[in-house]
Amino acid sequence: MSGKITVVGLGPGGADLTTPAVASALAEATDLVGYVTYLDRVPAGPAGQRRHGSDNRVEVERARHALSLAAEGRTVVVVSGGDPGVFAMASAVFEAVETGDPAWRLLDIRVEPGVTAMLAAAAHAGAPLGGDFCAISLSDNLKSWATIEKRLEAAARGDFVIALYNPASKARPEQIGRAFALLQTLKAPDTIVMFVRAAGTPDVQLSIQQLGSVDASAVDMRTLVLIGSSATRTIAREGAAPWVYTPRSERAFS
Ligand SMILES: C[S@@+](CC[C@H](N)C(=O)[O-])C[C@H]1O[C@@H](n2cnc3c(N)ncnc32)[C@H](O)[C@@H]1O
Repeated sequence: MSGKITVVGLGPGGADLTTPAVASALAEATDLVGYVTYLDRVPAGPAGQRRHGSDNRVEVERARHALSLAAEGRTVVVVSGGDPGVFAMASAVFEAVETGDPAWRLLDIRVEPGVTAMLAAAAHAGAPLGGDFCAISLSDNLKSWATIEKRLEAAARGDFVIALYNPASKARPEQIGRAFALLQTLKAPDTIVMFVRAAGTPDVQLSIQQLGSVDASAVDMRTLVLIGSSATRTIAREGAAPWVYTPRSERAFS
């Protein structure tokens, strides 16, 4: 089969955080496939390049469409925000391959990494991911709330720094409050919590709070939540937000 499919991540928002490899793949594509909000971030391509935008909820369907285009011999790029392998389209493409036309297994399929929101958010706050960490999506669209609670509890008991993706949406406004209520029973009240909105863009906003008194009312779909481990600490600064970091050694301040 001559068709090619590349699943790319545009990074967290700013064009300067899209990798050169992703920019090249976008420029060479005959067809771009993706959620319309992400496609809108892609600069105009060469004449004749086609865009196939769809709604956010139809990931596997969109992946099948992309694979059919590639099977026709097109050079297809599937677009995700951040990194395409983190709660995004790369898995949907492989799920479609595994369950779809056996001929799709012969296609040239590549994944081109991007800067995931967690890394852009952490860099804005300082270095909170300096120790062991984990990432959990709070969306229960694709898994049960019981699974999410089990993973939050395991992460808290393991004293990981926790990155929460998809902390809230208009349809799911209450889940971040439920997650904090659970974590408050398992972690110290002075645990540092960071809310980073629009990380990696000029509109970035950072709020640093403590778990015991946390106010999550401003959280939305563009927010990444970072919850420190017991080692995560702040360095105060005159007239500026403190830096937040997690020391590399667990013996640093013990
Ligand atoms: C479906 S996930 C996609 C993640 C994406 N593939 C990535 O690697 O960043 C969408 C969630 O990522 C987070 N997110 C994406 N871009 C962000 C940004 N610029 N700033 C903060 N959070 C962001 C938010 O939690 C959002 O609800």
